[in-house]
Order: sequence, then structure tokens, then C-alpha cells
Amino acid sequence: MYVLITGASSGIGKELAHLYAKNGDNLILVARSQEKLTELAKDLKPNGIEVLVKPYDLSSLDNCKKLIDEIKGYEIRVFINNAGYGNLGFFQDTDLDLEINMLNLNILAVHVLTKLYLQNFTAGDVVNISSMAAFLPTPTFATYAASKSYVNYLSRAVDYELRRRKSSMRVLTVNPGPVKTNFNERAKANINRGMDVKKCAQKIYKGIKKRKAFIIPGFQMKLAYLFTKITPINWLLKASYHIQQSK
Ligand SMILES: NC(=O)c1ccc[n+]([C@@H]2O[C@H](COP(=O)([O-])OP(=O)(O)OC[C@H]3O[C@@H](n4cnc5c(N)ncnc54)[C@H](OP(=O)(O)O)[C@@H]3O)[C@@H](O)[C@H]2O)c1
Repeated sequence: MYVLITGASSGIGKELAHLYAKNGDNLILVARSQEKLTELAKDLKPNGIEVLVKPYDLSSLDNCKKLIDEIKGYEIRVFINNAGYGNLGFFQDTDLDLEINMLNLNILAVHVLTKLYLQNFTAGDVVNISSMAAFLPTPTFATYAASKSYVNYLSRAVDYELRRRKSSMRVLTVNPGPVKTNFNERAKANINRGMDVKKCAQKIYKGIKKRKAFIIPGFQMKLAYLFTKITPINWLLKASYHIQQSK
């Protein structure tokens, strides 16, 4: 049995790969950087597992389809849509082409891979890595937050459909808060705070094992989630604007 992880070359995806490898699961690793994936595969193989490397840029729809065609023959128990990125800045000023690329990766790739996995496999779980940003409109991180809202709403609704159909398959949603990874550098966010990436991956891993529909890593973030549910939107906008300005 295999676990597939997109965005496995760094951050949360890489740590999840280590955890599954320790558990003896075979892995299929996806990201753009062949070099980093090959290096990671070398580190993981001593666990006595098979590791396949699939260097694909998933912001291309054709690549998403090619990936599914290549892996159809494997028994994939968990399919983790983790690849994604953000871009900080005022909406009026940020680059359109970059944002379209981000939407292709954060939304379209997740949409297409979730659908094609559910259509081509008969058992297993999709895990979609969203964000705490999904719960509130986020000034100066607007496109990213909106893209993760899409991931949340799609994943929760499809998971409910599967349960109603008495399918054994699930779509789990994961909403991390800030985590110390390359994400911040790519998003041009200047922050040092955030959860340790190993700790975050551990919590996600445990949640996936329990097949929890909805995973928020960390007590603080669970509290923050409750805060978003009871706070008027104008206050949330003000709070999230100030948080983003501090980056
Ligand atoms: N870190 C945070 O604070 C935080 C908070 C909430 C949610 N998240 C979410 O967690 C997920 C993982 O982020 P991270 O923090 O681990 O960031 P990261 O360290 O930057 O990892 C991102 C991964 O995605 C891959 N990737 C980027 N663009 C890609 C593309 N076009 N095609 C295929 N793979 C691509 C990267 O590899 P290559 O560069 O080799 O392609 C890398 O493996 C993302 O969905 C992010 O939105 C992160």
C-alpha cells in the first residue's frame, strides 16, 4: 500500500513523508524539484520501503491528469494534497500571473486530483491541506485565504456526500495555523513565529490515522477557530489585517 504526498520536497509534506516511512508505508513523492525529491527518497529508503519520485508542476492541469494516469495501478491508501503557496500584498498591487498560478495550484490541482482520485480508486482517503486562513477574509493575503476557503468548502461537502453514499472513502480537511517552513519566505512574509513543522506534521499524521474529517493542529489554533465563529466579520477583518501587517 502507498501514501502519495504532493509538495513532499519540503516543510509539512517532507515531515509527513518521514512519519509514513517510519510506519513502513510505501511512498509516492510529488513536487517540482526532482533533486530534492530524489535526495529525500534516498533518506527514506533505509526504512525498507519503496519510494517513487514524481517531479511534476501541479499548477498545470495536464500534469495533474498525467500524474493520476501514472499512479492508477498502485494501491494508494492516502492521497495528500499538500502542495500550495501564498503571496502577501495588497490585492491591487500583487502580480496577476503569479496569482493565477497560485489559484491553479491551490484550487484547481486540489479539485482535479480529489475528483480523479475518487473516480479512479475504490478505497482510500484524500487529505486536503487547507489553512486557518480559510476561516476569515484576510486583507493583504486575500487570494490565498480565498483559495483555502475553496479547499475547505469543497472537501467538507464532498466528504459529507461520501458518508451519505455509505462510501468507505473519505476527504479529510486539515487547517494548520502558522508553521515554520519555506512557506513564509515564498509568501514574502517576514515572520519567525509559528508551530514547529515536525510537531505540526505529527498532529496531522495522528488526525489522518484517526480519519478525522476536520483537523486543526494545536490547541491555540482550535481556540482561534472558535474565535472566528463567534466574532463579527468587521472585527475579524481588523484583527487579520493587523496580523498580516506584522509580517
Ligand atoms: N507554513 C504555514 O504557515 C502554513 C500554514 C497553513 C497552511 N499551510 C499549507 O501547507 C501546505 C504545505 O506548505 P509548507 O508550509 O510545507 O510550505 P513549503 O515548505 O513551501 O512546501 C511547499 C511544497 O509544495 C511544493 N510545490 C510548490 N509549488 C508546487 C507546484 N507548482 N507543483 C508541485 N509542487 C509544488 C514545494 O516543492 P517544489 O518547490 O519543489 O515544487 C514544496 O514541497 C501548503 O498547502 C500551505 O498552503 C502552510
